[in-house]
Parts: sequence; structure tokens; C-alpha cells
Amino acid sequence: MSIIEKALNKALELEQSSTHEKAERAQFSKMTAEIEVSLSMPESVSKSEAAPKLHAIDWNLVKAKGMLTLDAANSQLAEEYRLIKRPLLMNAFPEGDNGIERANLILITSSVPGEGKTFTAINLALSIAMERDRTVLLIDADVAKPSIADVLGIPAKKGLIDLLQDKSISFSDVLIKTDIPNLTLLPAGSLDRHSTELLASDAMKRLANELSARYPDRAVIFDSPPLLAASQGAVLATLVGQVVLVVESDVTPQYVVQESISKLESCEVVGCVLNKTKKGFGFKYYGYGYGYGVYGQQRTES
Ligand SMILES: Nc1ncnc2c1ncn2[C@@H]1O[C@H](COP(=O)(O)OP(=O)(O)O)[C@@H](O)[C@H]1O
Ligand SMILES: [Mg+2]
Repeated sequence: MSIIEKALNKALELEQSSTHEKAERAQFSKMTAEIEVSLSMPESVSKSEAAPKLHAIDWNLVKAKGMLTLDAANSQLAEEYRLIKRPLLMNAFPEGDNGIERANLILITSSVPGEGKTFTAINLALSIAMERDRTVLLIDADVAKPSIADVLGIPAKKGLIDLLQDKSISFSDVLIKTDIPNLTLLPAGSLDRHSTELLASDAMKRLANELSARYPDRAVIFDSPPLLAASQGAVLATLVGQVVLVVESDVTPQYVVQESISKLESCEVVGCVLNKTKKGFGFKYYGYGYGYGVYGQQRTES
């Protein structure tokens, strides 16, 4: 088992196994120290940097954005996200083998910026984590325009990019635990001109494989770059088991959506969320389909 695999294993196991925050943090620090020893980390990776971070979500910010909050369990939005997450979770955590590789890795993408990738990724992660269905790792992989940490009001410096390009950084260094016990955040990290290229690197591929193989019971949600802005979104889509294509209702032209769909042809499972619809759909299921090349729609209220 590689060192990063061990680090991943320990960090995530500890997060999952303990509910007592203090004990968990103590264990986590111990684990981090062990990793430091085994990696012979340079002095520059100080203990305080390597210690697990815990940040509370700024719920006022989240509420102001019209997103899911702890007190909104019965809202229409909450119900919509229950509908969106159900098939994703069924595919990700099947009773038997459903043949979908890396099914617990879910990429949220769109054709162009502004369609609602981040809105969808965060709401989906909150919906899964708040209802205690599953443990969720939310990864900001839109590294050219990262926004998850800002939207949640969580300060974040290092993240995915640092993990991919700096071997002295371990997984636990860049994870942020939130005040929702089941929700952990991996921010985008330090932006440089090579950031987007790193998403298509072997290191990214290894990370995706490890996340899926070592933690099959965890939902990993990636907020991705838009498919038509750079090639890395489509590359990321090949690393995950399920893709959710967010389409901005009444705004994104059909030919644009079709071009995105053509970029996702090799993906096993692709679903579609029709976002920012003017008309509500009540709590009615709206032809939401998942499967080989099947595209469905889920309306979400703006
Ligand atoms: N269903 C929705 N209801 C209300 N506001 C939304 C919805 N979807 C997206 N938004 C808002 O639209 C803007 C763009 O969404 P965002 O998720 O940042 O897009 P992307 O990540 O695809 O660039 C944000 O201000 C977001 O809060
Ligand atoms: Mg975004």
C-alpha cells in the first residue's frame, strides 16, 4: 500500500469511525504525526499545518444564496435534492455489483460557467450529509474558478492542487472538516497557471482510483470545470463513475448541451439536472433518468 493510500485510509477511517469530536481530533493529530514520520516530511510542513482543520459553515451566507440549510428539511429545495440524490446513491452504493466502476465518485459539471455546478454540488453534498445517509467528501475541482469554500464561508488556502503537485503534502493536510460531522471539504487550493492541467494528470487519476477503492462507502462529489471551457472537465468525467450535467433552463441553447453530451459519450452513467427553472414542479418526479447514455431532467427552483 502506498503512503498516500495509507494516509487516505487512516484519515478517512478516523473521520468515519468516531463521533466524539475531541477524541477524533486527538486521534487525527496522532495519525498525522505518524504520517509525518513515515514521509520524512520537511520542516516546512509544520505540525500546525498538518493538523486537521475544522471550520464551521457560515449558514447565513448559505441561506442568502438560497441553498439548503439545517432548518430547511421540509423545503421544496430539500425535496428536490432528495430526488436528485436518490438515483445517484442507488448507483453508488448498490446491494450487489452493478458493474459501474468508481460509482461513488460523482462529478457535477455543466457546459458553461454560471449554470449552477457549485450550487448543485454543495446542495447535493449537504443533502446527503445532513440526512446522515452517508459520509461525503466535497471536492472543489473547478480550480480555475474555485468557489465552494467562499460560498460556505470557510477559509481555505491549500487544497487539491497542492496535493496533486507537492508530494510533501498529505491528504490530511488539505482536508477541512465542517460542523456537519459527515461532510468534509477538499478545497481547490493554490491557483497557478498549471492548475487546470493538473486535473488531467496521472496524480489526479491515482487520487480518483484511491478515493474509490479505499472508501467505497463514501460519496465523493466533484465540482468540475465547465465542459466547453477547457478539456479537463471531460477528462475528469472519465475518472468518475457518475456525471451530473447541470443545464441552465431557458438560457443554455440546445446545441451547446448537445456538444457537452458528446463530450460525455464515454461516461457510463450521466444524468441531467435542469436548473433555475421558472416553473416549479411541485414534488413531482420529472423524468430523471440514469443509465448508459440516458439523459433525464430534474427541475430545480430558482
Ligand atoms: N437553482 C438555483 N436557485 C437559485 N440560485 C441559483 C440556482 N442555481 C444557481 N444559482 C445561483 O446562480 C449563480 C451561478 O451558480 P454557480 O453554482 O456558481 O454556477 P457555476 O458553478 O456553474 O459557475 C450563483 O450565484 C448561484 O447561487
Ligand atoms: Mg462554480
